Amino acid sequence: MSKSILICGAGGQVGHELSIADSQHNLVPLSREQLDMTEPMQIEAAFAAHQPDIIINAAAYTQVDRAEHEHELAFAINRDGVADLAHACKEAEIPLLHLSTDYVFDGSKPSAYVETDATAPLGIYGESKMTGEALLRASLRQHVILRTSWVFSSTGHNFIKTMLGLGNQRDELSIVDDQQGCPTSARSIANVLLLIADRYLSGKNIEWGTYHYCNQPATTWFGFAQEIFAQASGYQDMLIRPITTSEYPTPAARPANSILDCEKIATVFAIRQASWVEELGLVCAKLDK
Ligand SMILES: NC(=O)c1ccc[n+]([C@@H]2O[C@H](COP(=O)([O-])OP(=O)(O)OC[C@H]3O[C@@H](n4cnc5c(N)ncnc54)[C@H](OP(=O)(O)O)[C@@H]3O)[C@@H](O)[C@H]2O)c1
Repeated sequence: MSKSILICGAGGQVGHELSIADSQHNLVPLSREQLDMTEPMQIEAAFAAHQPDIIINAAAYTQVDRAEHEHELAFAINRDGVADLAHACKEAEIPLLHLSTDYVFDGSKPSAYVETDATAPLGIYGESKMTGEALLRASLRQHVILRTSWVFSSTGHNFIKTMLGLGNQRDELSIVDDQQGCPTSARSIANVLLLIADRYLSGKNIEWGTYHYCNQPATTWFGFAQEIFAQASGYQDMLIRPITTSEYPTPAARPANSILDCEKIATVFAIRQASWVEELGLVCAKLDK
């Protein structure tokens, strides 16, 4: 009998890629309009209606700067919504695959972050995600927390869209070059989540816990912007100037080092890091259509 994978946050970047992915299982993508994570009754109703075998949570409050003055909403979704989802999973005795972020770290480590490194978020978004992680760990044994970074896709809001939008208005841009991280396609994240879900649904033993996954190699926002303008059609004359974080102040501080070490997921699940340069090529091809 085919098994059901319920996807929360199906309208987002990762949620969308999950919804359109090839799977031998029955994918049940629910957008915010169909399942609001801040409404426990809606979670209960979705579980009753769809009888899922596993949940993937791609829903989140992701507005890093706005979170600084929308504490309540950020915590309602990223902490309380996750706790309610974990509770429903426990009752139904099914696992939850949940996404988290590099922003749980403060970025002061000189090398890549491993899963056991101490968390110390710099802002409200990171704090809300960190507390969501903690509540999930404490309440549901069968969980995977997949931390990722710098997510991009051809849909939704992301750095590529911002760059191309600015590139349409200006011929010179100044981009931060002292924050290190790994851009990661929503498509590759969806593939990783579905691979883990598939392993579980085919009866294989799963090592539950926290994992890091991002594309490779590491770069800076400046390096990412350079590659975006090199690959997207019509921006080859764009001038990009590297600047420091202090020259581009934002309401929420960003970690200087966002690089996630992905050795654990490689060892446990044999999952290798995709190349963000190649993934960007796929996104640019879609945007060109
Ligand atoms: N974006 C990044 O650079 C990044 C980096 C590291 C980790 N992550 C993590 O990766 C995951 C997926 O990120 P993403 O980039 O795909 O995010 P996204 O594009 O912002 O999508 C998040 C989705 O969650 C939905 N949502 C918000 N509040 C909700 C609620 N109360 N109930 C149900 N759905 C709700 C949003 O709907 P609306 O659009 O209607 O608000 C949106 O469709 C998140 O856990 C995020 O924290 C993202």
